[in-house]
Amino acid sequence: MVYSVKTFNNINQVGLKELGNHFQIDGDLAENPDAFILRSQNLHGIEFTKNLKAIARAGAGTNNIPIADATAAGIVVFNTPGANANAVKEAVLASILMSARDYIAANAWVNTLSGDDVPKQVEAGKKQFAGSEISGKTLGVIGLGAIGGRIANYAQRLGMNVLGYDPYVSIETAWNISHHVKRVDDVKEIFANCDYITVHVPLTDETRNTFDSEAFGLMQKGTVVINFARGELVDNAALFEAIEAGVVKRYITDFGTEELLNKDKITVFPHVGGSTAEAELNCAIMAGKTIRQFMETGEITNSVNFPNVHQALTAPYRITLINKNVPNIVAKISTAVSELGINIDNIINRSKGDYAYTLLDLDETDKAKVDHLVANFEASDNIVRVRLIAKK
Ligand SMILES: NC(=O)c1ccc[n+]([C@@H]2O[C@H](COP(=O)([O-])OP(=O)(O)OC[C@H]3O[C@@H](n4cnc5c(N)ncnc54)[C@H](O)[C@@H]3O)[C@@H](O)[C@H]2O)c1
Repeated sequence: MVYSVKTFNNINQVGLKELGNHFQIDGDLAENPDAFILRSQNLHGIEFTKNLKAIARAGAGTNNIPIADATAAGIVVFNTPGANANAVKEAVLASILMSARDYIAANAWVNTLSGDDVPKQVEAGKKQFAGSEISGKTLGVIGLGAIGGRIANYAQRLGMNVLGYDPYVSIETAWNISHHVKRVDDVKEIFANCDYITVHVPLTDETRNTFDSEAFGLMQKGTVVINFARGELVDNAALFEAIEAGVVKRYITDFGTEELLNKDKITVFPHVGGSTAEAELNCAIMAGKTIRQFMETGEITNSVNFPNVHQALTAPYRITLINKNVPNIVAKISTAVSELGINIDNIINRSKGDYAYTLLDLDETDKAKVDHLVANFEASDNIVRVRLIAKK
């Protein structure tokens, strides 16, 4: 069995080796692939082919993928949580340090000097670049996931007081956050009490414009706002007013739009937070591993639209089903199996929202009988995707 993968955005080749020998990458089969691996390729508006079963985003954010459409089409969407978190953490820590001392403007000013007395001019003019130290200042972190959690821990080690806000923090992440990081239950506490605020939440309808005029209205004068998550988390019109009023001392973002460029007090980076050699490799390795596991075993790890599902395959055949999350579906599946005189070796069914995923292992070696069962499932209105996997 050869699976076909189509890649976009120059995925690290070393990482793609994780797919192993049973995958053809960007070959002649990529016309109608089983899986996509991509970084920032925008999939909104594309029509999914029937054969497409999985999409892996080598990165964390998945707002370039129409998740609801993929789910309805029975396509499992994966991301690589945490794989580039260290890279973004380092970029944000650099941004905090940079905004405390305005190194960029200081360097630009020195480069304007000329003549034999540059050292003199430096001594005469350097006062304008006297900065402040971050030790003892307060950092607010909105979103304490893979990136925000790491930043909170490290900023605290650099001597900052750290407030963290994340109403949905996972237990696993919470265990890794230093007890010195103070948890707040209302994001307003972050807006009102911090010298620096950094945001690390996914872009959703809930988080869009997290920084609006109300949020800026709560901030103290001279707050630094750092956004390496997504541009749309900030209402730019409200930001410009807050800068004008001296509320925002500096806005540092990884997401440029024309209106943000060449503006005093705004520093824009070209979406490079997660772009280190190490992060790109980590992301590609993780994406390759998850696609391989899913295609070869049906197991799901790190999906954004289906639950994690793991079960060792010991039976001759496994059927994987993506089904609508309707009452009695597991009983109906079991009945369909027993009607053909097949025994179930193992079954696991996990739901997420309106859909569920089932691994159905069959104690049956007669391929014709198993194919018959697959055809019956394919004819069911409540089942949107059926796959058959034979034990190697
Ligand atoms: N600049 C870059 O290159 C770059 C790289 C990686 C990720 N990102 C962005 O950073 C975001 C975070 O990445 P991550 O790896 O930390 O993701 P993550 O999933 O590990 O963490 C996100 C956290 O946000 C929390 N959250 C969700 N909604 C929230 C809300 N309304 N208020 C407060 N917290 C909320 C979640 O509970 C979770 O803990 C991504 O979604 C992506 O948009 C940017």
